Amino acid sequence: MRIRHLFIFAAAACALAACQEKSLTEAQKGQAYFNALGCRSCHQIGDSGGTYGPNLTYVGFRKSPQWLDLWLKDPHAWRAKTVMPNFHLSDSVRAALVAYLSEQKGQGWPTDADKPWNAPGLKDNPIARGKMIFNKVGCVACHGVGGVGGYPNNNVVGGLIPSLTKVAEGYSKEELIHKIHDGVVPTPMDPSQPAPMIHMPPWGQVLSKGEITDLADYLISLDPNAQSGSSSGGF
Ligand code: HEC
Ligand code: HEC
Repeated sequence: MRIRHLFIFAAAACALAACQEKSLTEAQKGQAYFNALGCRSCHQIGDSGGTYGPNLTYVGFRKSPQWLDLWLKDPHAWRAKTVMPNFHLSDSVRAALVAYLSEQKGQGWPTDADKPWNAPGLKDNPIARGKMIFNKVGCVACHGVGGVGGYPNNNVVGGLIPSLTKVAEGYSKEELIHKIHDGVVPTPMDPSQPAPMIHMPPWGQVLSKGEITDLADYLISLDPNAQSGSSSGGF
């Protein structure tokens, strides 16, 4: 209960101050709500914030506004076992948060030197660097920690985004690089139902050839015996 009271207090403080400011854009209001509601206690944008939930620096690249709205309305309706709380946000607060999150396409790390995977120690270790990129750009938010899977998609066979622990059996390194670079729009299982909301993003738009090559090395190194189910933590 204490945490819940804290959220309500933060929302009230926000309502009285910056968030109601008429001159602010939707995204600026969303940023104020993001801070006031304590989203940062679990999420990083850039390097500041908690790591209990996925890093959101690229969330506007990987997720559509429609999906973000659905998620914030009721996280458990999309993923029953998620530990992300339902904040019971009003329509206007949710709209502002979606505007703010949709703008997050990597600018939280303004230069290459700011990107955590460019730290000097990682330069000569493609697998460790690939793992860092996997976590920080948010592959982990769709494919799970260590690529073990378990995250839903609608109207796809099995109802899940694929796990990645066995990609080395089906793809060559070059094929993996192409897949990551180009992305995939999943084929609906039932064409009469709404199309799958989660797409594999075309990462070549935001990542370099070197970054994608290190990601491929990391995926090839994954343990094919890893089990799905270990969901939270490790972001
Ligand atoms: C108690 C920790 C916690 C708090 C507080 C929290 N989240 Fe989350 N959030 C998570 C976790 C964990 C996930 C990953 C979903 C999963 O693993 O089930 C997540 C997922 C998300 C996602 C989808 C991430 C993606 O990369 O696709 C968004 C967007 C999000 N949260 C936004 C928010 C916003 C906005 C707030 C504040 C209103 C918030 N979260 C507060 C833990 C939290
Ligand atoms: C927004 C969710 C999302 C994110 C983020 C994401 N993916 Fe995917 N990924 C998917 C979906 C959905 C598919 C399945 C596409 C299809 O229907 O073939 C997929 C498929 C793949 C595949 C092919 C797997 C197979 O068995 O065919 C690889 C490899 C892959 N992703 C790697 C990555 C990497 C590396 C990243 C991070 C740079 C990443 N993905 C980020 C959603 C995502």
